[in-house]
Amino acid sequence: MPHPQKLLGMEIPSIKVQLKDQSQWKTLPPYQQLGFGKYFSDHWFSAQFTETKGWASAKVEPYQNMSLDPAAAVFHYGQALFEGMKAFRRADGSIWLFRPEFNSHRFNDGASRLCMQSVPEELFLKGIKSVVEADARWVPKESGCALYIRPTLVGTEAFLGVRPSHEQLFFVILSPVGSYYSEGSAPVKIWVEHNAIRAATGGLGAIKAGANYAASLQAALHAKKQGYAQVLWLNVDHQGIEEVGTMNVFFVFKNEIVTPALNGSILPGGVRDSVLHLLRHWNKPVMERRITISEVHERHLKGELVEAFGTGTAATISRIGELQWKTERMILGEQHQLSQEILDTLTGIQMGTLPDQFGWMRSLQSL
Ligand code: COI
Repeated sequence: MPHPQKLLGMEIPSIKVQLKDQSQWKTLPPYQQLGFGKYFSDHWFSAQFTETKGWASAKVEPYQNMSLDPAAAVFHYGQALFEGMKAFRRADGSIWLFRPEFNSHRFNDGASRLCMQSVPEELFLKGIKSVVEADARWVPKESGCALYIRPTLVGTEAFLGVRPSHEQLFFVILSPVGSYYSEGSAPVKIWVEHNAIRAATGGLGAIKAGANYAASLQAALHAKKQGYAQVLWLNVDHQGIEEVGTMNVFFVFKNEIVTPALNGSILPGGVRDSVLHLLRHWNKPVMERRITISEVHERHLKGELVEAFGTGTAATISRIGELQWKTERMILGEQHQLSQEILDTLTGIQMGTLPDQFGWMRSLQSL
């Protein structure tokens, strides 16, 4: 029988806040050194789910190691799911989040696919709010920087039979970030993977399961050795373009802009969705459809491929400078007018210098 909280969907535990003594605060890293995911703030948020208590023990406390039973489900059968979000500091000092409800919905779609208890939206948002408030000094003010928010859900029950864990931990950690790629804002070189695949329709590709990223590591390592920053994944037919793994992908041709249609194995990215909104609002001829690597190659040879870029929370809008597919090397020109316009618009909305015409931004206080 589902736990009553699942039925009501509303009751959330109160959040206990136990802050570090100021004398123990970490030194903030210089913003030029941030990169991605290297530093962690002073506190974290966590809440536990058990069948008897529902969601309970919600707390913000000093960032620390956690203790789990070695038999915990997450270590054996991979019940692990996460989100990526950002908090931005505006010129007036206020802190804002970009479309947090989008992440909450996607998180719970993933929880359902992995047979995990959903995290009520209120708990998801209040958990984030409480820890970002506690660590507000970690939200960088410098342009191009943000506080990356990593909500995570793992199965914690100590049991080796293969079935969904009856116990879970939901937690949120924070990391001040600059550029995801070491290239900074320079165009990235991408390796088109023609052997391995990342996911297939019906599998886990459309959710942010940790397993998808484990599946991507081998090809990413190979690509890195050849001097490529990331892998462009193809479908099981080794033709249909999927995504880059850390970002969705858009191709700008002379007469249309194309991004692969969501087919069940591509992550429905929040920035992807926002870019589609912007392009449609600007009356640009944008299509979500199947697109193959052969089509991209042929149109590149004909001079029709104007620019290509990736979209993601961590990667923001990243220009693609080169695609290597088998023996074919596609060097993209210096054009990046559209991707720059999109980046400037999204940044303007996030930082409050442009109107939030789609109602995407949420102030930290309002959560
Ligand atoms: C994000 O963009 O937030 C992601 O989750 C990509 C990541 C795995 C670095």
